[in-house]
Amino acid sequence: MSDLDKFPTSFDDLFGLRGKVALILGGGMGMGQQSSNILAHMGCDVIVADIIPERAVTVAAEVRARGRRAHEAVGDMTDPTTADRVLTEAEAAMGGIDIVVSIIGEAGWFSFLDTTVDEWKKDQRRNLDYFFHCSQWAARSMVRRGVGGAICAIASVDGMQASPMHAAYGVAKAGIISLVKTMALELGGSGIRVNCIAPGSVNTPRANARSSAEINDLRCADMGIPLGRAGTTREIAETVLYLVSDMSRYVTGVCLPMDGGWLSTRLDSKKYTKRPPPEPAKAT
Ligand SMILES: NC(=O)c1ccc[n+]([C@@H]2O[C@H](COP(=O)([O-])OP(=O)(O)OC[C@H]3O[C@@H](n4cnc5c(N)ncnc54)[C@H](O)[C@@H]3O)[C@@H](O)[C@H]2O)c1
Repeated sequence: MSDLDKFPTSFDDLFGLRGKVALILGGGMGMGQQSSNILAHMGCDVIVADIIPERAVTVAAEVRARGRRAHEAVGDMTDPTTADRVLTEAEAAMGGIDIVVSIIGEAGWFSFLDTTVDEWKKDQRRNLDYFFHCSQWAARSMVRRGVGGAICAIASVDGMQASPMHAAYGVAKAGIISLVKTMALELGGSGIRVNCIAPGSVNTPRANARSSAEINDLRCADMGIPLGRAGTTREIAETVLYLVSDMSRYVTGVCLPMDGGWLSTRLDSKKYTKRPPPEPAKAT
């Protein structure tokens, strides 16, 4: 029999997620809400961790409506003491944690010269420090249980290039990308894979509170992003699904840009895709 004849015929065999417990840090809205629902759809039980209780309760109810178990883990996950308590309760309620999706993150908006030490620390804490603490907590538990696992963080293209007007955020996201590689190396022997996604511009509820999805799409097209629009939370969640499932079982330590091609074009693609070729220079 060839390998192709053995290709899985069901989602359960293909993704290998049925019965796994997924912890979604920032699961109550946007990318987190979509990830919680897609993973539940594919057979995961879900711990919805969010600082806003109503959000955790809403998404946990959505997970249960899909026939899966859910646990509301309410608290400020950037506070290590709170995170330890919330994660201990969640693990006890769900019997373990197999998957971590780390989504919480936000940028302050200051020029380099205007960034204060407090603003700098705030962006490290709410982007990088909590990811270090919560993923370490979960990885220790995975190692103790000896069952392996998968961790996926949301970084940003701002961690892969200059990050004008939010230097602190860019450094924090670059820190996530670096930490993911080190974790992948140190945890690979325990069967734990660690990856991250670097979104470009995404139409999240928070982003669209500032400017509508239509304006955001137009801005992306105007910036010359090859796919000509912002990404969606559904698209991010589908890539989360790939990175935490058996579909990517030989992938670890990577940062996958999801930016409509933004990073791949250093040039303004509009100039090169729409303009007719220049006339040859006339001899004088
Ligand atoms: N929107 C974009 O264009 C874009 C681009 C690149 C990267 N990102 C990254 O994507 C991630 C998600 O962004 P978003 O705009 O969807 O976020 P969001 O604010 O919409 O969602 C984050 C969720 O986390 C919860 N949360 C916030 N602080 C928390 C805390 N301390 N403890 C527990 N829960 C908390 C919120 O209540 C919310 O439900 C972030 O890491 C962000 O940096 C976003």
